[in-house]
Amino acid sequence: MPRVPEEVIQDVLQATDIVDLVSSYFPLKRAGKDYRANCPFHQEKTPSFYVIPNKQSYHCFGCGAGGSALRFVMQYENLDFPTALKKLADRAGVILPDDPVNDAESARRHQHRSRLLRVLAEATTFFQDQLHRSPEAAVARDYWKGRGLSSEHARNWQIGYAPGNLSPLATWAKSKGFSARNLIDAGLASLRKEDNPQEGIYARFRARLMFPIHNDYGDVIAFSGRILDPDAKTAKYVNSPETSLFTKGKTLFGLHRAKRPILKQGYALICEGQMDLIACVSAGFDHAIAPLGTSLTPEHARLLKRHTDKVVLCYDGDTAGAKAADRAFRELSHSGLAVEVAPMPENEDPDSFIRGCGADAFAAHIAASRPYFDFFFARRADSLRTGDLANRTEVAREAAAALAHVNDAILRETQLQQVALRLQLAPDLIRNEMRRAIQRLQAEAARPAALGGDRQDNAPPEVDTPHDPMRSLMVSLAALACNSPDARQQIADSPGSPWPDLPGSHLLRLVLDSPIKAGSESAVNAFLATLESRDEATLRASLRDLEQVDNRAAATEHLYALHQALSRQRRQEITARLRQPGLPLSEIESLTKELLDLQKPLANPSPRAAAAAPPASPEPDDEDPF
Ligand code: UTP
Ligand code: MN
Repeated sequence: MPRVPEEVIQDVLQATDIVDLVSSYFPLKRAGKDYRANCPFHQEKTPSFYVIPNKQSYHCFGCGAGGSALRFVMQYENLDFPTALKKLADRAGVILPDDPVNDAESARRHQHRSRLLRVLAEATTFFQDQLHRSPEAAVARDYWKGRGLSSEHARNWQIGYAPGNLSPLATWAKSKGFSARNLIDAGLASLRKEDNPQEGIYARFRARLMFPIHNDYGDVIAFSGRILDPDAKTAKYVNSPETSLFTKGKTLFGLHRAKRPILKQGYALICEGQMDLIACVSAGFDHAIAPLGTSLTPEHARLLKRHTDKVVLCYDGDTAGAKAADRAFRELSHSGLAVEVAPMPENEDPDSFIRGCGADAFAAHIAASRPYFDFFFARRADSLRTGDLANRTEVAREAAAALAHVNDAILRETQLQQVALRLQLAPDLIRNEMRRAIQRLQAEAARPAALGGDRQDNAPPEVDTPHDPMRSLMVSLAALACNSPDARQQIADSPGSPWPDLPGSHLLRLVLDSPIKAGSESAVNAFLATLESRDEATLRASLRDLEQVDNRAAATEHLYALHQALSRQRRQEITARLRQPGLPLSEIESLTKELLDLQKPLANPSPRAAAAAPPASPEPDDEDPF
């Protein structure tokens, strides 16, 4: 995406209410005129994360994270700037002028998307009505009850029933003004004959229990339908096809409601299917999520990593479940997640386990989850017990191959030590084997994304603590140039501005180069949103510090302090240079002259100047070289 004009960012921010936005991810509590919550960017027990409506910004007093609505989306969802902007723009209905194709095209896409979302939302209600009211759905209602779930549960999960033939769906669509094309685009129907629309459509989901699948904002984007007739010769679950709204490999069932609980628990509980997930959440394990009948993909892993550093796999207690856990370990480890396993007993899944043994037993089971390699060795216990060297070598190779997928250096080393200890082998042996495995993976790297090659940095932004007095001066000048047009002019006109060699000057340069109208809060917000997150946090902190200050006077004082510091620095350089033996006379002369010029006092802007500005150097004035 080409550079986005700041007016557009401003439009998007103005159309977005940060309180609404943040609340769509997790609940906020009112705190006076602001709102607060536990910070999603670091672990804490008492809330220090504030959303400030009248500044349309957020700030965490614990970790320093902060910024505009845009920064929030970038940080929370680990998105780059253009993607976050696009997301907010879509949400707010603002059309980005630099949208890849053109305005008309993007307006059309926006309209199409809204229409699909409406079709799916209405369809959810339609299927729900069917489940609760239609005589035909009695079998579905019985089935649901038979699985130990109430109609309250059904409503809570917006569960529905898709009738066995097309006509109720067709009648409903007509009553809502939805065309056959709408149904097809939403993944609810297909053409009987691909190449001949005249032949009509058929319903994709027939006589199935319907599970809506949501996006981050809680909009329904797809369905998964479970068969009710145990003798039916079709797939047990059918999902919506991939549509413009739904990509199976990027969607996790239940994630939109699990984000906050995951944060609270410090890990995500991953199970294999939607019934397991519903059973988990109903039993109070609301940090559970499930992929939709696929192995976890790299996108799933990245998505999870935005919310947590650890997952517990709660897969079925069969060979398929164990294999799925192996695959999940590799994918999740690529994204830097620590993986633990709480394998279900043979022939159980979380749903049957909870119903059979109760929530407490399940809680104990989860609490007893073990690091992945415990699970790995438990499954190979027999082959290790024989003491057969060949077996042990084989297991070592397998372990090294698994370790090769771990991207996080610390996680890799800890697990490597664990493996070496368990196999009674020198860690270096495993390490060498692992390196070979890594080389093999790199050679195969036809799939660079799977190796975490395009991973985004997920670290919360630390405020760039300006302990360096010079840097602190530069940051304050940058903030002043944001705040007041007078200060901005004064700073821009000051000799040497923007002092490219000084630490922190890049910020000032960015401010002076940007066309912002200093002092306009929304313009400043839009500008801040274009910065790196660290820069934004740093500048915001400085802007806060300057809130009660006369900006013009502060600019004068800061500039004075800066020039004093620069002068002192230069004098020190000259003095040092003059101490060197054998300097040519001409140089001594010019240096001496420069030194004398520098020693002329600067015009002191105010008596407070020296005290107000941070001292540039703690040393006393340098000695006279003569
Ligand atoms: P399972 O076969 O383990 O089913 O598939 P389950 O979750 O225990 O389902 P219930 O309890 O019989 O209702 C695990 C997951 O794999 C996907 C579904 O997401 C399912 O939840 N799956 C399974 C499909 O997508 N299609 C299928 O035909 C079967
Ligand atoms: Mn099951």
